[in-house]
Amino acid sequence: MLICKNISKSFKKDFWNKDFVALHDVNFELNDGKIVGFLGANGAGKTTLIKIILGFIKPNTGSVKILDIDWTEDEVRKLIGYMPERPFYYQNLTGHEFLTYCGELQEIDKETIDKNIEKWATKLEIKFALDRKIKGYSKGMLQRLGFVSVLLHNPRLIILDEPLSGLDPIGRKEFKDVIKEVNEEGVGVFFSSHIVNDVEEVCHDVVVLESGNIIYNGPIKELVSQNTSNKFVIKYNDGIKDCELIVEESLKDKKMLELIESGAIISKLIRETSSLEEIVYRLNK
Ligand SMILES: Nc1ncnc2c1ncn2[C@@H]1O[C@H](COP(=O)(O)OP(=O)(O)OP(=O)(O)O)[C@@H](O)[C@H]1O
Ligand SMILES: [Mg+2]
Repeated sequence: MLICKNISKSFKKDFWNKDFVALHDVNFELNDGKIVGFLGANGAGKTTLIKIILGFIKPNTGSVKILDIDWTEDEVRKLIGYMPERPFYYQNLTGHEFLTYCGELQEIDKETIDKNIEKWATKLEIKFALDRKIKGYSKGMLQRLGFVSVLLHNPRLIILDEPLSGLDPIGRKEFKDVIKEVNEEGVGVFFSSHIVNDVEEVCHDVVVLESGNIIYNGPIKELVSQNTSNKFVIKYNDGIKDCELIVEESLKDKKMLELIESGAIISKLIRETSSLEEIVYRLNK
């Protein structure tokens, strides 16, 4: 659904300093209809790459294809929905006026606008505030309004820059549920985050960016299984206290026998696992 080819971007510093390279020859391809997380620390280059994908800034090299269409074609814009990291809102409009305005800008018919406002504003729990002026909205309310605006034109792919930041735990859960629901309707989702657990919870695939370099692109399951150790944890009671022993897979049977012979009671044998967070942290080193 999205192909980035040889994308590099550097930003000019002053005359005496070398340019700062924000993206180094970035290449990746995202599979159709998936939810893909875009992970990377602050300053890794996520927003820069998203802005390049959307055509807001020009890369030094490279090209992008979205849903098999070259990014320079106008029709691409109609197929994608984008929620920026720091959206701009007309403070004096009501939520409803703002959404209608967004829909009209995209040349969507009134019926579709109203239908989608009703559907997504209800799901994102913002319907109650649509008649209020935006200047009175809280951060989470603005975020919800922004998400509704992305979905008005029935996009095929949505690109969200840090959609979950600034939301409380309930808001995050609601957003994640809507992301899953939109995806079940056949819409691809690409969203950036630096919260690994959120990505792990909703995404099929993940792209990991570190200092402008892609260090992983693929299914989350594969990343986790590749990095799962061959160590086992044996939990047992030695007659006095609960203990834990970590052993290589090849030694686990022998160790368990020894423990049983010494009178210990084994309560659990589990494979030592790493969370996605630990894996990504290791990849970054
Ligand atoms: N217009 C610009 N001029 C100079 N440097 C820039 C510009 N835009 C981005 N950068 C630099 O490029 C790097 C990547 O920034 P970017 O905003 O893409 O990071 P990010 O991964 O989105 O970070 P965050 O998680 O904080 O949003 C940073 O070092 C940033 O300072
Ligand atoms: Mg950013």
